[in-house]
Amino acid sequence: GFYYKEGHEERLFIDSTPVKQVIDRLSSPPTPFILYSLNQFQHNVNTYQHALNDLAPIRARLSYSMKANYNPHLLSILKSSKVMLTTVSGGEMQLALSNGFEPSKIIFNGNGKTDESIQMAIESGVLLNVDSLFDLEVILKYARQLNKIANVLIRVNPILGDSNVHAYNTTASKTSKFGTSIDDLESIYKLIEDNHDKWIRLFGFHCHLGSTISNTQVIVECVEKMIKLFDMKRFHHLRFLNIGGGLNIDYKRYANRTANEPEEHISIPTIEDYVQAIKQPLQSIPNSIEIIVEPGRSLVANTCVIITRVLGQKQTGPIRQLIVDASMTECIRPALYQAYHHIDTVISSPQEERIAYDIVGPVCESGDFLGRERCLPKILQRGDFLAIFDTGAYCSSMSSNYNMRPRPAEYTLDEHEQIKVLKKRETNEDLLRTYCID
Ligand code: LLP
Repeated sequence: GFYYKEGHEERLFIDSTPVKQVIDRLSSPPTPFILYSLNQFQHNVNTYQHALNDLAPIRARLSYSMKANYNPHLLSILKSSKVMLTTVSGGEMQLALSNGFEPSKIIFNGNGKTDESIQMAIESGVLLNVDSLFDLEVILKYARQLNKIANVLIRVNPILGDSNVHAYNTTASKTSKFGTSIDDLESIYKLIEDNHDKWIRLFGFHCHLGSTISNTQVIVECVEKMIKLFDMKRFHHLRFLNIGGGLNIDYKRYANRTANEPEEHISIPTIEDYVQAIKQPLQSIPNSIEIIVEPGRSLVANTCVIITRVLGQKQTGPIRQLIVDASMTECIRPALYQAYHHIDTVISSPQEERIAYDIVGPVCESGDFLGRERCLPKILQRGDFLAIFDTGAYCSSMSSNYNMRPRPAEYTLDEHEQIKVLKKRETNEDLLRTYCID
């Protein structure tokens, strides 16, 4: 993983290598670029799996929510660790299938699925989440047409919120667009019963409360509510309870290094804390049911840093602006959710006096900032390297080409600490490839 060694000039490390050495070996690399610690990723997978094994005799498995980051190198680690995948589009489903994941180990979720993606799921035997009555009707239509049985879970909206997450990150409020409310379940049950074992098989239930959840109590309430739904007599194939993902990570764990006035540090549950919290409500689950936990962020967020160069600094009114070459096109989370990503230097500076900066990108958009009021060395100048932390989840996968910016290269270190290219930087030609120019 990534960590700081104090009193060391090459202060930021990836596993046992100074990040500065990686930069030197790349010799004047185009920035920004993304650096992965795949060791950290494997470690996170192992941590989840060990914690879930501790739930025995309750059986629980992991399904990675690949929208967080679908770099195929992550997928091959997941495949060898026997992790399932949760997909949300035909594209993600196809990537999962072409990477050799068994269809029965792939879940296809979505409140609006295209005809093509529904056909792909039924044809290949992927598990589909039924999101609504209309979704079920289309699934049944294609099951009949393809003369196959669709294997489904029902995504239920348990209507429980976590008031502490950004509004864009809650998926189980009264007005959320995802899932079916418990009150509407009966009409879905009826339609399933009419077609059961002929065109459709109900394997269980799914729910997902939202993302960046730092309070395990709401997840416990959710599990309790979901367990009440299991009617083993009515549907005899019930096998899975998918309790979704959503666990936050401690984005502010280094914040005191750069904070103006160190705030009180709110503790975020670890993966182990989270699994311990769900243990109690799961005691009442029928033992034929297997639990699926579906994290994205808590598996992948801390596996990447974005390395960016300082372009310059200037004063605007009361604000000292530090302009860097990364932007909202590589890391949109601050602009979109006012999310915090720690930003700090790669090497220690000879003179440690720090001042407060707003760290902004070069994109022509006032919302293009990466961090506000961060204390960084006063002497930062053009060409100095900074690292933006915890950018493994929802950064690369949410990146864009706005302002005709090529998406960055992605690197890791192999087992011999040699640089390995995971993804090439896009070229300007790449950005024009799909335009039809006479
Ligand atoms: N399952 C379902 C059905 C989901 O919709 C999601 C995420 C997950 C699992 C994984 O949630 P996680 O463990 O990563 O919190 N772009 C936002 C996050 C959007 C999350 C969408 N759904 C962000 O950058 O904060």
